[in-house]
Amino acid sequence: MSPAMSQREDDPILECRFQKGVKHLCESGITSLPSRYILPVSERPNLRGGGMNVSDLNFKLPIIDFAQLQGPQRPQVLNKLSKACEEYGFFQVTNHGIPGDVIQSMIDVSKRFFDLPFEERSKYMSTDMRAPVRYGTSFNQKKDGVFCWRDFLKLVCHPPSDVLPYWPTSPADLREAAVTYSQQAKFLYMKLVEAVLESLGLLVGTTMHADEENADNAALKEFEDGSQLMVVNCYPSCPQPDLTLGMPPHSDYGFLTLLLQDEVEGLQIQNCQGKWLNVEPLPNSLVVNVGDHLEIFSNGRYKSVLHRVLVNSSKSRISVASLHSFPFDRVVRPSPKLVNEANPRRYKDTDFATFLAYVSSCEPKRKNFLESRKLP
Ligand code: OGA
Ligand code: NI
Repeated sequence: MSPAMSQREDDPILECRFQKGVKHLCESGITSLPSRYILPVSERPNLRGGGMNVSDLNFKLPIIDFAQLQGPQRPQVLNKLSKACEEYGFFQVTNHGIPGDVIQSMIDVSKRFFDLPFEERSKYMSTDMRAPVRYGTSFNQKKDGVFCWRDFLKLVCHPPSDVLPYWPTSPADLREAAVTYSQQAKFLYMKLVEAVLESLGLLVGTTMHADEENADNAALKEFEDGSQLMVVNCYPSCPQPDLTLGMPPHSDYGFLTLLLQDEVEGLQIQNCQGKWLNVEPLPNSLVVNVGDHLEIFSNGRYKSVLHRVLVNSSKSRISVASLHSFPFDRVVRPSPKLVNEANPRRYKDTDFATFLAYVSSCEPKRKNFLESRKLP
């Protein structure tokens, strides 16, 4: 039995406290990190003296100017986009067109949600992976041996008429702010999908015959009907940030993730040499990353990259991840147009049910799920 397991079973009172989340733990007043949150030395964020945990401070994520993408510079920007997806699996989008007040309201209402009394927040606690709204802590609070320093609110966004009645009723403006933001994020996502498909050579483009246009529209329609999940992450300030993580290394399930963050840094991505790179928050921008489904769909050309979140001792941090993909029941496989003799199929078929079965059955570590879909 692992030390974490024995601790869990030995001390039900402590365990019950940890299950209530880190915000609650902080409110009860702690000055040091409980052992449940302490990572083994090799997994801690700031290991000095070499190895995989040294970060590169001079790194800047590629920037995609969305306004330019929609203009005459589109071919050059598509090139940049495709390089970013191949090399980093991540880019920042500026001039994305989502109004500043929509973004501000989303961040603002998220902060106020986590400031509500625990009793109010806990109404939405659920361990049902398919619940339309789910408040929780850590990564997988029923399975994680070591807990991470994060609380979250997950909001399923699609189809809106089915899910909205379950969303929190307080703060009173949460639903309105979150619906508005989620619609704007979906609109941007669709434009980015169009760009991604075009960059992979899968859309014929704007000057084409009617039948080609119909094929393109059908391809995009499937994305329009796809799934959307918003995860509001709250990382309270932490008494010993060098011993824990806000989120462990993981890749995102899905096609693309659009990440909105406040001005506090914390996100790191892993480069191909295994080095952790800080993503500096750029005001008014969104971070976009390739998810497992896009890696599979592109037959491995675009990379779903490991990322993690550091916490800090002075500031709490809020982020809102909007995760988009195909409809839940759709089988995900490499696009047939990207598979040929020179570039054989590299992934098995997968679907959402397979993923749920996978995450429910094990402690989700790194990108195991994607690894499990690779063909030998
Ligand atoms: C996520 C994620 C990063 C962050 O929600 O999947 O990676 O900065 N979030 O909160
Ligand atoms: Ni992520």
